[in-house]
Amino acid sequence: MDTCLGPELNVSDVFSCSFSSWYSSFENLTISSKVLVLPPEVKSYLLADGIVLPEEDNYRSTADTSEDEEDDWDDGNQESQPPKFVEFEATVKQAIEALGGSVFPKLNWSAPRDASWIAFGNTLKCEGLNEILLLLKSSDFITHDLTRPFDCCHDSGTHSSDSVQYELVLREWCSLAQSMEFRVFVKQGVIVGISQRDFTNYFPELKNIAARLPREIQRFHSRHIAGKFTLQNYVFDVYRRATNNYLLIDFNPFGEVCDSLLFSWEELRTRQVDGTQEDIFRYVMQQEGVKPNPYGQYRVPTDVIDIATGSDPQKLVDFLKVEAERQAREDSTKDDTDDVER
Ligand SMILES: Nc1ncnc2c1ncn2[C@@H]1O[C@H](COP(=O)(O)OP(=O)(O)O)[C@@H](O)[C@H]1O
Ligand SMILES: [Mg+2]
Repeated sequence: MDTCLGPELNVSDVFSCSFSSWYSSFENLTISSKVLVLPPEVKSYLLADGIVLPEEDNYRSTADTSEDEEDDWDDGNQESQPPKFVEFEATVKQAIEALGGSVFPKLNWSAPRDASWIAFGNTLKCEGLNEILLLLKSSDFITHDLTRPFDCCHDSGTHSSDSVQYELVLREWCSLAQSMEFRVFVKQGVIVGISQRDFTNYFPELKNIAARLPREIQRFHSRHIAGKFTLQNYVFDVYRRATNNYLLIDFNPFGEVCDSLLFSWEELRTRQVDGTQEDIFRYVMQQEGVKPNPYGQYRVPTDVIDIATGSDPQKLVDFLKVEAERQAREDSTKDDTDDVER
């Protein structure tokens, strides 16, 4: 992410790939989503050191019984006072309900994929604001969006993160089979490469569709994306639901800020495709071809070491708080179901 070799990326390219720039034009091709303006106080909270989650109403009712212990945590430590985002919490709650109860969160460009280790179940599936904030606050990708979104742009000197209207994007949660996600590289309006999105795994089923996949994706591109997306050089991610049935997942800039997966940026930049290019689709062909997971470094997080050594006890408290909220929610859903059954 930090190595920027290509000279051609500019700030307007990065803006064109931000979620709210493209969503309204491609709404019918992608997952239902809501875009919420991120209040400045929530942005500051995400950038502040330490994790102290806001108290949600449903948590307070169970937490009030242990006031003494809470006081102990708070003694002489103003910074651990939980913030309150009453209005924002209500807006988020409404959006989550409208999207079916569970969502995938991201900001203008990135999702907190590097922070999924902090979530129970290791997923980005969220049902409430605290889960969302815990993920966002634990993610380097989110910090990058908030502080250095134009790092790789040759004209970044004229822009900073201050010129960005930050947004929280909530997308309806969808169970996606990782084997069916693909990244498509478009240069001068033409597809120059397609890669298996999760290149850290071998998926035997890809062999069966490899021959027809480029044609299917080219068809999807020419019908729905070419000429409609504002850039000539870009990258888009898709999900194959069935033969000739694709879901658009995301747009990314054509350059080092975007992972080139089974290609290299150098070859993507110099590639000439004449329509008969056999090598347009790359996937892992055998178990031995699997590359190490680039997010491996995030798996043994220093935060866990902090928790273990007791240098950041608040984080453990918040970790457990989110779990308590989740269990309370599950119990109340179970009660509702029991009521119906009775
Ligand atoms: N609505 C969703 N529900 C479940 N998983 C999702 C959803 N949207 C994206 N994902 C998963 O998260 C990955 C990253 O999503 P993406 O929006 O491209 O984030 P980023 O731009 O940070 O990579 C996707 O490849 C997909 O596996
Ligand atoms: Mg993306």
